[in-house]
Amino acid sequence: MKIVHTVADLHSALRPFDAPALVPTMGNLHDGHLDLVRIARPLGDVTVASIFVNRLQFGPHEDFDTYPRTLQADCAQLAQAGCDVVFAPSEKDMYPEPQGFKVLPPPELADILEGHFRPGFFTGVCTVVMKLFQCAFAEAKGRRTAVFGQKDYQQQMVIRRMVQQLALPIDIVVAPTRRAADGLALSSRNGYLSEAERAEAIQLSLALRALGRDALAAADGLVRHLPALEARAMEGLAARGWQPDYLTVRRRADLQAPQPGDALVVLGAARLGRTRLIDNLEV
Ligand code: PAF
Repeated sequence: MKIVHTVADLHSALRPFDAPALVPTMGNLHDGHLDLVRIARPLGDVTVASIFVNRLQFGPHEDFDTYPRTLQADCAQLAQAGCDVVFAPSEKDMYPEPQGFKVLPPPELADILEGHFRPGFFTGVCTVVMKLFQCAFAEAKGRRTAVFGQKDYQQQMVIRRMVQQLALPIDIVVAPTRRAADGLALSSRNGYLSEAERAEAIQLSLALRALGRDALAAADGLVRHLPALEARAMEGLAARGWQPDYLTVRRRADLQAPQPGDALVVLGAARLGRTRLIDNLEV
């Protein structure tokens, strides 16, 4: 496995290949990331994982400075999973000058849910992902593929829309969420949890599951009953000591409020101590 740190070295490493499959990450990898690599492998003739903690997608009071940087351990895991090239640029290489040009996703998709609680988050994500695409696919002559996790439900949707609206010749593949034995969605931020918080953390996905069941049971009365069901789910978590940002049922197509007959997804974000967790469930 080659490890490269500059865009020029990435281009050289990928020049002999036609069809890169890219797995963008911010490092501090877990089995969920390794699933993405395993899914990417048969989709191209070279598998590339990027590791870059992207300052642009962090708010001023978020965990950019403390986000774990674990390059050596990440590379060992990536090699085991069959990754061919790791692209781990420095900040200077990704952003040699302040990134004035940005990709601005549409507010109806990017300013709701995560984007509401993390203003500018999806602009930061789209900007770096667009740049990673340029870096990884510059030499491609065949299929270009990028793999993202379903755990970041809104993120994969924003990226799929970006690729579609900007006519980027890239296949976006979405991988199912990897969960721990108790059902907690794997996340780099789970490492922030204390032992007691880790035991409690499963309550977020349990609350989403219960909300999903209630939403399905409401059937034709969903639109009328939904605000009360969502409020009850948020209150339930708050009573256990969480600070919920949202627990909500949306339609899968565009994450807007559902109408009768829509396919549904339940999404949630809540803080447990100093750790903000997100999860989702299609119902
Ligand atoms: O999901 C992530 O880890 C990040 O948002 C991504 C897609 C690597 C962009 O920095």
